[in-house]
Amino acid sequence: MKIAVAGTGYVGLVAGVCFAEKGYHVTCVDIEEKKVEMMRQGISPIYEEGLEELMQKNNALGRLHYTTDYVKAYRDADVIFIGVGTPEMPDGSANLSYIAEVSRQIAETVEKDCLVVVKSTVPVGTNDKVEQFIRDFLVHDVKVEVASNPEFLAQGTAVYDTLHAARIIIGTESKEAEALLQKLYAPFELPIVSVKRRSAEMIKYACNDFLALKISYMNDIANLCELVGADITDVAKGMSYDERIGARFLNAGIGFGGSCFPKDTKALKFLAKEHGYSLKTVEACVEVNSAQKTRLFEKAKERMISFAGLKTAVLGLTFKSGTDDLREAPSIDNLKLLLAAGADVYAYDPKGTERAKQLFPVGKIEKGSMHYVDSVEEALEGAHICFVFTEWQEIKGIAPEKFKEYMHTPLVYDGRNLYAPVQMKDADVEYYSIGR
Ligand code: UGA
Repeated sequence: MKIAVAGTGYVGLVAGVCFAEKGYHVTCVDIEEKKVEMMRQGISPIYEEGLEELMQKNNALGRLHYTTDYVKAYRDADVIFIGVGTPEMPDGSANLSYIAEVSRQIAETVEKDCLVVVKSTVPVGTNDKVEQFIRDFLVHDVKVEVASNPEFLAQGTAVYDTLHAARIIIGTESKEAEALLQKLYAPFELPIVSVKRRSAEMIKYACNDFLALKISYMNDIANLCELVGADITDVAKGMSYDERIGARFLNAGIGFGGSCFPKDTKALKFLAKEHGYSLKTVEACVEVNSAQKTRLFEKAKERMISFAGLKTAVLGLTFKSGTDDLREAPSIDNLKLLLAAGADVYAYDPKGTERAKQLFPVGKIEKGSMHYVDSVEEALEGAHICFVFTEWQEIKGIAPEKFKEYMHTPLVYDGRNLYAPVQMKDADVEYYSIGR
């Protein structure tokens, strides 16, 4: 079976590499020649544990190819996966222009019957439109069907999540398409849930928004904990024993970021509105998250007269650990506020610095200034205040005494609840976290 994959971001590239790992011949298509050349050499354009190793292995085995020449890739493919981005539009809706572009290219190039599988997260009903669109523009006399196969990988654990997925969702409108996808996924030996296309599309949003809701709920409860003298870590622990609630995604903090939850909550809200329905739970989730992102800064503002000229250590920039991605990271909102308030920021992140420099270049920004350092110690040295935005192991593992030893004033605002308040107190560190 010959597979083509459109788009080499997290969804497309990881899918392509994992299908190759399962023995298929896969051609990954991207529009950027430079990126394609890198991938041919076994260099991954994204940081993702285990990805490069699998790329190199399957490149060498001749199962994995990369090209900008989509005609060559799609012409005789049996299955074409679409894994291009569906970024957020200013009104919160999903931008489907990349999906449309790839659909048109597929329509104009396929020379044999094939199944087009949409992996990108798309609003309910998009697969129907993609199928119609492709059929409208078909050049050759072939049969093209479209199936939905949403992706559930998380950044940082993308390869593991794909090879060990909790389930594969396939949304099809014909027995043939369903059988083909069942066969394609058989080597993964994972549970497969087969539904209609629109349900598959909805499952993806319903899952992401449910997880986002869970986080916003915990953040809401955490804020209340602060007011009533309870500890959110203990509350979460107590909740986690109830299997109906589950132990994961109960971590309160500075709100969710990334390329998925912020976009997918807004997109579902938009979809509901388009259909004359107001999705109140998701609306509340978005609202809570937006306030949560800058809660720490607001807390610090209450404590400080001014941030002007303060050496401000920032530990962690990415939206979570295990990735170099900064999209919608709470650090961005906070850095903007800190720099506007005149802080001299010294930021440390094990993987996110290069991407951060594109958003906040080194030097003077607004009233403050931006600097990047290579270690926790350099960030803390002589600092008047410290903010923790990401739960990297290197940051989590800092001994409380270190803040006292290195900082000018041991004052820490922790957006990830990484340290025990008692230990921080014992180390003579003034410590603020979320919900405790
Ligand atoms: C998320 C989902 O977890 C994946 O299942 C989904 O496939 C993916 O979106 C997608 O749609 O592509 P991802 O955005 O990579 O994955 O990362 P998560 O681990 O879900 O974290 C999202 C945000 O929530 C991060 O900012 C994280 O710090 C935050 N979070 C997570 C919390 O604040 N508390 C938690 O308990 C868990």
